[in-house]
Amino acid sequence: MTTTHFGFKTVDEHAKAAHVRGVFDAVASRYDVMNDLMSGGLHRLWKRYAITVANPQPGHRVLDIAGGTGDLALAFAPRVLPGGEVVHTDINEAMLREGRNRLLDAGVVLPTVVCDAERLPFPDGHFDIVTVAFGLRNMTHKELALQEMHRVLRAGGKLLVLEFSKVAPPLAKAYDWYTFQVVPRMGRLVAGDEHSYRYLAESIRMHPDQDTLSAMVREAGFGHVDCHNLTAGVVALHVGIKC
Ligand SMILES: C[S@@+](CC[C@H](N)C(=O)[O-])C[C@H]1O[C@@H](n2cnc3c(N)ncnc32)[C@H](O)[C@@H]1O
Repeated sequence: MTTTHFGFKTVDEHAKAAHVRGVFDAVASRYDVMNDLMSGGLHRLWKRYAITVANPQPGHRVLDIAGGTGDLALAFAPRVLPGGEVVHTDINEAMLREGRNRLLDAGVVLPTVVCDAERLPFPDGHFDIVTVAFGLRNMTHKELALQEMHRVLRAGGKLLVLEFSKVAPPLAKAYDWYTFQVVPRMGRLVAGDEHSYRYLAESIRMHPDQDTLSAMVREAGFGHVDCHNLTAGVVALHVGIKC
């Protein structure tokens, strides 16, 4: 049996995706309100920064992986449509349904595809921009997912990985207290689910730090890789260019 981690637990690697599915099935309907509460609205700024760095142009083809409730897809749509393409994808139907409903409420109709980032159902070299926000952390084979992202990008295309990362040491104690003590309680009160938000805190600790992830993006084939620390490393934006 090959094992991997699910938060701090060690699980059979074939079982991890089902555990992750359980988390997002449980939180889908309260996901957006929890994001705003937990981050004090900062996730909106982190995502806006990622969009600015992506620099989408009219006509661009954009793939949003692990797109969940659709924040990035919603922001890309007016910048690249009409003439371009935004494909909103996620492995989890409940999250994707929340996202599709939000997009429809905003008058935005996009292709919505249930798919695993580790096996993307898109041709080689199709997209100008590929994004994954707060999704890579949950994937079982991150290297495979990054290789798939590289495969579907055209030469010169841009990958943006927005993810929790390693916080600057002076903030570490306060950050531990907030993420391990406060966030799970918030999860219990607001989403009726403490465990999923404990998983969030644990999965952040198990995720590769800035330098390790930069090396992984390079290893996946990206010729140029940049890392932008946001909010003292609470989050990092990794940008990979397919050369
Ligand atoms: C924390 S949510 C992020 C949603 C959205 N991108 C955002 O930033 O608000 C993580 C998402 O990753 C998705 N996910 C986890 N593993 C995945 C995989 N292997 N392939 C595609 N999506 C995955 C989950 O279903 C979930 O919707």
